[in-house]
Amino acid sequence: MSFDVERLRERFPTLARKTYLNSGSYGLLSLDVRRAFEDYLDIRDERGSDWPGWMAQHEALRTRVAKLLGASEDEIAITASASAGINAIASALDFAGPRNKVIASDFEFPTSGQIWHAQSQRGAQVVHVPEDAHGFIPLQHFERLIDEQTRVVAITHVCFRNGAKLDVGGIVKLAHAKGALVVLDCFQSVGAVPIDVKALGVDIAVGGMSKYLLGTAGIGFLYCRRELATTLTPSASGWFAQDESTMMDIHHYTPAHNAHRFQAGTPPVPNCYAAAAGIDIILGLGVAEIEAHVRALSGECMERLLQAGCQLATPRDDTRRGPTIAVRANDDNALVAKLAAANVVTSCRDGNVRAMFHCYNNRADVDAFIDALLANRALLRT
Ligand SMILES: Cc1ncc(COP(=O)(O)O)c(C=O)c1O
Repeated sequence: MSFDVERLRERFPTLARKTYLNSGSYGLLSLDVRRAFEDYLDIRDERGSDWPGWMAQHEALRTRVAKLLGASEDEIAITASASAGINAIASALDFAGPRNKVIASDFEFPTSGQIWHAQSQRGAQVVHVPEDAHGFIPLQHFERLIDEQTRVVAITHVCFRNGAKLDVGGIVKLAHAKGALVVLDCFQSVGAVPIDVKALGVDIAVGGMSKYLLGTAGIGFLYCRRELATTLTPSASGWFAQDESTMMDIHHYTPAHNAHRFQAGTPPVPNCYAAAAGIDIILGLGVAEIEAHVRALSGECMERLLQAGCQLATPRDDTRRGPTIAVRANDDNALVAKLAAANVVTSCRDGNVRAMFHCYNNRADVDAFIDALLANRALLRT
């Protein structure tokens, strides 16, 4: 491990009171992010507004996101949410012709499924890729469905329900062989799993800053491959999606000559401050180092749970999982409440209790989680 977890923990006051295993729902507030919000408020108090400074902050955030994903600034849009990014892309795709299929994994977060199904009004036919009995979606399931009619393959890097991680590179190869685009939702991995959009080969990636990026809700990002961006003309748009020279022109629509065309209205200024401070923590620690730390802790946790007779919904293979462990429960809501009463913060989906590990978790957190689970054996599926 190349960072000092105990020192890091001092920057997250909540950890003095709670065992926090819910970072895939909302990353913890750090002193750094609190300070960033205060910086914004100080400017509001002192000057009322600072549009030049805020636009610089917005561009500095774009630079950070580009660095995080291995992309260039011109390939990054700062959005209001992951949903806003998917909507902007969907609005640019033509589903009227023969290439009207959307192949969506069954690991999609609801918003992704819903947005793609909304395109059925525009001619899209959405086909879901089912998971197997082991909580994974093997490449063969995609291979069976991706064909020459496929416009887009919508996938999630790490599933919000069970923590399984898809073989993105393999899916990209299958999609590109049939001429389809790949839209990756990396909200449940970014900040905890290294993402190199070029190495993965995805065409588009979306996510947000509230979870493993330790920022805040109300802001997101979109990556679009440079050569692709100018071939897609979104009909969901706004003045911050235009070229700078045309943003005040009410007579024409002149989308920016890069991925900035997937933005819309005024950027979420306070959230730009918070998101930058959160990403700085992540970049400072190193995403590969965070992944190694999280993998060791969560791997140990899985082993101990299996030995104790618990059932896991998460694949045990390290290459097939992200930072989340999902434990099968008889009553997941009741179990989350019992854990909360023991100051262990988790969440549940799909009948499973989720423990979502991050850089600031330590072995004491693993102990606290397992002790609290085993103290409520009747609520666990064994
Ligand atoms: C994988 C995934 N995608 C999308 C979303 C929703 O993102 P947004 O609310 O920013 O549109 C979430 C939120 O939890 C998520 O986990």
